[in-house]
Amino acid sequence: GHSAALIPAAGSGTRLGRGPKAFVEVAGQSLLARSVQALAPHVDEVVVALPPGTELPPGLPARAIVGGETRQESVRRLLQATRAERVLVHDAARPFLPEQVVHALLEALVDTGAATVALPVADTLVRAGTGIPGLDSGCWGELVPREDLWAVQTPQGFARSVLLAAHDRARAEGYAATDDAGLVARQGGRVRLVPGDARLFKVTAPGDLALAEALATAWDR
Ligand code: C5P
Repeated sequence: GHSAALIPAAGSGTRLGRGPKAFVEVAGQSLLARSVQALAPHVDEVVVALPPGTELPPGLPARAIVGGETRQESVRRLLQATRAERVLVHDAARPFLPEQVVHALLEALVDTGAATVALPVADTLVRAGTGIPGLDSGCWGELVPREDLWAVQTPQGFARSVLLAAHDRARAEGYAATDDAGLVARQGGRVRLVPGDARLFKVTAPGDLALAEALATAWDR
């Protein structure tokens, strides 16, 4: 059936400090343009949520709507702006999206109606010492076993009806999640995990831009 890529790109980019983040350029191309171009070949349409008062740069194969105050609200509006049967939700802030990852996600989606790209955690994980007598938040508290732990990325794929129901219920009950798979899972939905890619890191802090610039050299070749 009909499919859409939904790109929340309405963040203000406060932590990056370069204006609305989606318009920040890496090696001459905006984060938004990179995300749109990565997804457009795989779907029937691309819809982008932008900050109020901004416009889609010319020439991108997408249409734009105005985003909301939170990422969750931006995605809810995006869902209302399409009638596609399947939707892929992807942060504009993750500009390097390998094609094989999109294929793997689309395949996983067939089974459950909900799937997300995620990375098995490679680092040792520790909870800071808050709450442990004699330790503060600058100290090693408890080791968190990393087996079975995954760091969740985007894109995330859903039957549109599944994600819309999750958003409607979250709104009615007044709860928030940092991503869409989290909303579906919280309501008892099964979400498949699809191995992601380190290149899908989210550009958040100024240091991430240096990493993105370095990666772009190889990526754009
Ligand atoms: O702030 P953060 O990097 O977690 O945002 C993740 C994605 O959600 C970004 O692509 C950002 O533009 C988008 N977003 C949005 N609407 C908001 C806040 C964030 O579309 N109100």
